[in-house]
Amino acid sequence: MQIVRTVDELRQWSRSKRAAGKSIGLVPTMGALHAGHASLIRAAAASCDCVAVSVFVNPTQFGPNEDYGLYPRTFAADCVLAESEGAEVVFAPAVEEMYPAGAQTFVDVEGLSNRLDGASRPGHFRGVATVVTKLLLAAEPDRAFFGQKDAAQVAVLRRMVSDLRLGVEIVVCPIVREADGLALSSRNAYLSAEQRAQALVLSRAVRRVEALATGGERSSAALIAAVHRVFAAEPAVRMDYAEIVDWQTLEPVATAVNGSLFAVAAYVGPTRLIDNTILP
Ligand code: PAJ
Repeated sequence: MQIVRTVDELRQWSRSKRAAGKSIGLVPTMGALHAGHASLIRAAAASCDCVAVSVFVNPTQFGPNEDYGLYPRTFAADCVLAESEGAEVVFAPAVEEMYPAGAQTFVDVEGLSNRLDGASRPGHFRGVATVVTKLLLAAEPDRAFFGQKDAAQVAVLRRMVSDLRLGVEIVVCPIVREADGLALSSRNAYLSAEQRAQALVLSRAVRRVEALATGGERSSAALIAAVHRVFAAEPAVRMDYAEIVDWQTLEPVATAVNGSLFAVAAYVGPTRLIDNTILP
């Protein structure tokens, strides 16, 4: 497996593969890879001839008081995992490679970027949309793979790819969870044993909504009230939001339909975690 540091090298790799008739998959990540990332790389390797994994902790998607400096960086282990799941290239640029000195160009998906996580983290989705655009322009993939874990991110990126006619297929992979339900996240590394147990309230809320919806409850107000009751039993965890929205527009819906998104975010100590489900 090759480690590539510059946009030009990645583009050359991609174009040489394309010239040889190969299809290309891209898996964008911020590293600290876990089984959730692994599932994306595996899906990419299963449907594309050549797979590139990007590992880049993107400064522009972190707020000034967020965890950019603290974010786990485990590059050697990331490379081992990426290679074992079938990646041909790891793209690991320096910050100055992605944001050359004086860079002033950003991609902003208006409206959608202010919903859910975007409401709590101003500027977050502008940073995500900008870096993903740069990664897509560098790798020129046929398909790019993202996790449903970040469902609002998926909505923003789908809109962006459609608006900009980027011509890449967005593939969304299911949420990978621990045996007890906790959704895998690089940020789980921040949790103490006690917080790790408290964090299960997110997946409990997800399962509660799934059970009620499966049982026929369609009122968003009733579903969200049930979520508040689940959270009331875990007072150490502070809810950020819990909403039922249209997955495309991220606008709240009063009545949940098949394909509506239930999304929840909460602070466990200082650590912000998210979870979601697509309603049956
Ligand atoms: P990161 O948090 O590293 O996640 C990279 C990809 O892995 C995302 O598409 C995310 O949804 C997916 N992922 C994370 N946890 C998952 C889980 N438990 N199950 C399935 N997929 C999971 O998301 C980002 O990085 C960044 O915003 C990025 C898109 C790379 C732009 O910087």
